[in-house]
Amino acid sequence: MSFLSKESKAAEEPAEIAAGARLIPRITIQAFCEHSQTAQLVESAIHDRRMSKVALTTHNGGLEGAIETYRSNPTPNLIMVETSLPSAEVPSALERLAEVCDATTRLIVLGHANDVVLYRELIRSGVSEYIVLPASAQQIVTAITDLFAADGAAPIGRTVGFISAKGGAGGSTVAHNVAWAISQTLRQDVLVLDMDLPFGTAGLNFNQDPPHGLADAINPSQKLDQVMLDRLMSKAANHVSLLTAPVSLDRTYDHGERDFEQVVEISQKTMPAVVLDIPHAWDAWVRHTLATVDEIVLVAEPDLANLRNAKNLADTIKALRPAETEPLLVINKMGMPRRPEISANEFATSVECRLLGQIPFDAALFGTAANNGQMIAEVAANNRINDIYRAIGMHVTGRSVPEVSGKAPGLKLPELFRKKKQA
Ligand SMILES: Nc1ncnc2c1ncn2[C@@H]1O[C@H](COP(=O)(O)OP(=O)(O)OP(=O)(O)O)[C@@H](O)[C@H]1O
Ligand SMILES: [Mg+2]
Repeated sequence: MSFLSKESKAAEEPAEIAAGARLIPRITIQAFCEHSQTAQLVESAIHDRRMSKVALTTHNGGLEGAIETYRSNPTPNLIMVETSLPSAEVPSALERLAEVCDATTRLIVLGHANDVVLYRELIRSGVSEYIVLPASAQQIVTAITDLFAADGAAPIGRTVGFISAKGGAGGSTVAHNVAWAISQTLRQDVLVLDMDLPFGTAGLNFNQDPPHGLADAINPSQKLDQVMLDRLMSKAANHVSLLTAPVSLDRTYDHGERDFEQVVEISQKTMPAVVLDIPHAWDAWVRHTLATVDEIVLVAEPDLANLRNAKNLADTIKALRPAETEPLLVINKMGMPRRPEISANEFATSVECRLLGQIPFDAALFGTAANNGQMIAEVAANNRINDIYRAIGMHVTGRSVPEVSGKAPGLKLPELFRKKKQA
């Protein structure tokens, strides 16, 4: 099928869409246009109901502008680039763009060449769609919907579970600050699930006391869907939403193994990043959650009990998910005055986990942040601890990381948008 027939199909669709409208998840889109009419066209797409959750920005400079921008900035969920290059030059220019893009980013090209051969070549190399200009806003929205909201579309969200090796090691603090760092650096929506229903601190740390939260989302008497999830979430900051813990001891919380499965799955369909703040416990649901998330971060203090537990957790997690990524390690509260400690590298070697970050102990800073219900970045924007949180956040969301304090080597995936297009 040529892209010409695809276009005409898109043009026929509006009536059907209006009836069964599917919302595009909360993705971030950046469009790089060459002409002001194209920028206007892309901007007009945001008025479509299906785009109501999308964060879209348009920029000048076309393909070259995008390459320049992403040399030093992380890439969004979707990039749209306009190019008026002749067909023969488009693939190599896109290759240069691919070199500066993160592996999870999708690309739609807006081109001026009405060329089937080019279309096929681009799709084969992993470009998600090639739209010939002039096009309608409808066509653009349909292309985005097909990519992100079609029946078989892969969930857009990356799930990252944080768990402490020992109670109080700081798993929650790291989870919340990393969620914040992801939201600020990538300008992408992040959802924090506070799974510590009786004692969780997400509400306190983000200074929120919403009436609903995670307990409502797993209540079996309610059918959870994306609309319901939207109602239960509370907004803690720009790009940060929470499902808080009820923190009430009126009842006990004896969850079944799969009680959180659905809320995690639905969250993943609508949020680009889902941070799971998992309590330090070993219940069937904790094990099941750890078996199913995309990334796991173990947070430990540098002492012997943490080391023993982290080793047990790491071994068990690796056995539980042999085909998945291995757990990552963050050592927290380094350099506590007068406390003898195991060196971070020695700790990581014994646990056989990749050391993702070392966070210094700072009673005044963390105490102030906790008491004020603020993130570390809000209390001390220039503190280098924020760089560590950012590096952890970029790693777990699969982004390239500019070297931070020599501790967080980045993921470079220079392939040309490979694997991103489902055949
Ligand atoms: N690097 C740090 N320096 C000083 N204090 C810290 C640091 N990190 C966390 N804290 C403090 O340690 C305490 C415990 O942190 P947190 O609640 O994140 O731990 P946790 O492992 O999630 O606990 P739980 O086992 O209850 O889930 C909090 O008061 C927090 O402010
Ligand atoms: Mg906790």
